[in-house]
Amino acid sequence: MKVLITGAHGALGREMQDLLRKEKVNFLPTDLNQLDVTDFKKTNEVVLKYHPDVILHFAAISDVDTCEENCEMAFSVNASGSLGLAIIAKKIGAKILYTGTNFVFDGNSEAPYFEYSEPNPINEYGRTKLLGEQYIREICDHYFIVRTSWLFGKNSKNFIPKFVLSEHKPQSIDAICDLFASFTYIPDLAETIFLLMKSENYGIFHIVNRGIGSWLDFALKAKGLMKLKTEIRPIKVEELHLRARRPRFTPLASKNFEFLFDKNMRTWESALSEFIKSISSK
Ligand SMILES: NC(=O)c1ccc[n+]([C@@H]2O[C@H](COP(=O)([O-])OP(=O)(O)OC[C@H]3O[C@@H](n4cnc5c(N)ncnc54)[C@H](OP(=O)(O)O)[C@@H]3O)[C@@H](O)[C@H]2O)c1
Repeated sequence: MKVLITGAHGALGREMQDLLRKEKVNFLPTDLNQLDVTDFKKTNEVVLKYHPDVILHFAAISDVDTCEENCEMAFSVNASGSLGLAIIAKKIGAKILYTGTNFVFDGNSEAPYFEYSEPNPINEYGRTKLLGEQYIREICDHYFIVRTSWLFGKNSKNFIPKFVLSEHKPQSIDAICDLFASFTYIPDLAETIFLLMKSENYGIFHIVNRGIGSWLDFALKAKGLMKLKTEIRPIKVEELHLRARRPRFTPLASKNFEFLFDKNMRTWESALSEFIKSISSK
């Protein structure tokens, strides 16, 4: 099996590379420097030359406020780039796996969102990522759309995981207390993607660790496990004056994966505990 990764230098891309190397799978890691997914001609050339069986399409503008600030760039990478890859995947008969987001939902629900729940994004990140999904669903037969949420792990760019990783902890940090979602440990996500891509179970999957929380919950749990002195101060999202609106409540219910693979994702607390052990053992 030959696998081509886009966005291979991102947090998920790096973890996936480690896993594929361990599993002795042939793969071509690409990122912005080698393969800009907005350049259709070049992307077509590179993908046709390598002729992968599977395309893991992780490349994205994943920063929510950057997408709001530069919505043309967000559209061109998240939506048009995915359209191009969908066309190429279809042409060469490759499977394509696209990473989607909980931010395709508006957050007005009182319960976690299922794979079949109606998306209704409220910011440019969610809108452009949803368009990416839609192009892939319309064009490809052999697709996996993996919606995930709030990634944490050794290369995560998210604020609280970066605090957990930092060598010199500050005296205090602010953690958002009024947004709720699912958390996802990147190695757990990579393992699941590996299972999916080897299968023929195509469709939409919500892949997250079990349980719901805010970044405040996550920070307090990490503080307890690491016995930190840092003061964790709750802050409401509106106090941060962020450029993009955030949906209030977007946990994902992981039904398709559990049903088709007969597997349960572990809780985020258990995954966080493993993450912290992996940092301390270095
Ligand atoms: N992080 C989360 O909490 C989260 C939550 C839900 C879903 N997701 C989705 O999961 C996927 C992986 O997330 P991640 O956290 O690993 O993201 P990430 O760390 O931002 O990685 C994305 C990678 O794509 C690259 N990229 C940007 N524009 C590109 C282009 N035009 N052509 C090729 N590559 C380009 C980025 O390069 P630069 O760094 O140089 O820009 C980066 O290396 C993304 O699709 C994201 O939307 C992430």
